[in-house]
Amino acid sequence: MINVIILAAGKGTRMKSDLPKTLHKLLGKTMLDMVCDLGLSLGKNVNVVAVISDEMKDVLVKNKNVNYVIQKDRLGTGHAVKIALDLLQKDYDKTLILYGDTPLISKEIVQAKIHKLTECDLVAGAFEVADISQKYGRLIVENEQIKQIIEYKNASEDVRNIRLCNSGIYAVKTPILSDLVNKIQKNELSQEYYLTDLIELANKDGLVCKYIKCNEDDLLGVNSQKDLATATAKYQDKLRDFHLENGVKMIDPKMVYFWDDTKIEAHTTIEPFVVFGANVEIGANCTIKSHSNIEGCKAENDVTIGPFARIRPDTILKNGSKIGNFVEIKNSIIGNKSKANHLSYIGDSQIGDETNFGAGSITCNYDGFKKHKTIIGDNTLIGANCSLIAPVNIGNSCVVGAGSVITKSVEDGNLAVTRGDQKVLQGGGIKYNNKKNI
Ligand code: UD1
Ligand code: CA
Repeated sequence: MINVIILAAGKGTRMKSDLPKTLHKLLGKTMLDMVCDLGLSLGKNVNVVAVISDEMKDVLVKNKNVNYVIQKDRLGTGHAVKIALDLLQKDYDKTLILYGDTPLISKEIVQAKIHKLTECDLVAGAFEVADISQKYGRLIVENEQIKQIIEYKNASEDVRNIRLCNSGIYAVKTPILSDLVNKIQKNELSQEYYLTDLIELANKDGLVCKYIKCNEDDLLGVNSQKDLATATAKYQDKLRDFHLENGVKMIDPKMVYFWDDTKIEAHTTIEPFVVFGANVEIGANCTIKSHSNIEGCKAENDVTIGPFARIRPDTILKNGSKIGNFVEIKNSIIGNKSKANHLSYIGDSQIGDETNFGAGSITCNYDGFKKHKTIIGDNTLIGANCSLIAPVNIGNSCVVGAGSVITKSVEDGNLAVTRGDQKVLQGGGIKYNNKKNI
């Protein structure tokens, strides 16, 4: 049984954005959501308390199991924890403190910290920075005991040269927390209450403060747009590893961009330069060829997409269907083994099984006011360069002749063609070429 406090009310001035910092997204999910979900994943008996600013409360309502407290005056991390104390379950013996701007922390790290708390009173998450100019708080350690955390802006040159940094994530025994937090004094230099002062205060009380050393990448704190881009790239790498582990084949994983909710089954191949947007599910034995952009799409098995395909939301590609180069599909169902191989737009449509949608053909779904539906049956051939003016129905086993503009429905088994008759002027080609030679 555990309390989780999430600090997320900071102004985020360094982001240079009107959006509160922890509402910035990494591949579709806000940092706040990522950290809340981590807290909630720790078990049934978890009490998650987020410290947020007023404008964030509507967003947080989605996370129904999260309690929150609004920090009106953002007086620092120590103050933020202080105002969360009232919402803690006092009989939950452990409290975890997470920062809403540290979104990449994993469940394994958190669990390791909770486990270590059995041998001490407080556990901090630490990491060694590769780049010494990083402005994290520095850990002063003696015989495995953390004595103090010194904030970068308050640190001497010697302290700044310490590589061991504070992640801002702590596990602490609940009964000691409120006493220590209430003792934190305002820092003279910054006029803020630093949560990091907890360590020195705990030492004064003879409490045991330990740390676990983690990977710098997992504890990256996001303060600026540059940090957000770095965190997004690291998250993207994790998603690539996740899909590779699940048996997805990628010729060059670095060149494939996933969304956080992308689902792909094993034995599917993704070629380089493919970008997934939100809400994509791809089945098994599919091939997504280079330069395709896919969002809001459910592809069943044995589907081929691309190269250079654009699949937009509410698209279903049934088993064995093929979508080729320069084809855009939106809000449409493409039936089993049906094909649209070249240069087409299919919008608000329903296409049956084993139907061929010819090169350069389009559905004209928009009349300038409203969107309309195109329905095409099974085993139908739409020739090249046709315009199907919606609303329109084309039945099963039909043929639509190339170059046709179809305005009326076509019954099952019929051939429709609206092309003008061809004229032939005998010798006209020779006459034309002779003119060129004058
Ligand atoms: C903090 C730590 C630093 C650590 C670093 C790790 C302190 C004093 N410093 O510094 O030692 O190396 O994180 O990333 O804790 N917040 C509130 N209310 C406030 C102030 C902040 O909720 O009044 C929240 C912020 O939204 C953020 C988190 O607390 O999610 C950390 O605040 P931030 O200002 O980013 O701290 P850092 O300067 O990064
Ligand atoms: Ca920070």
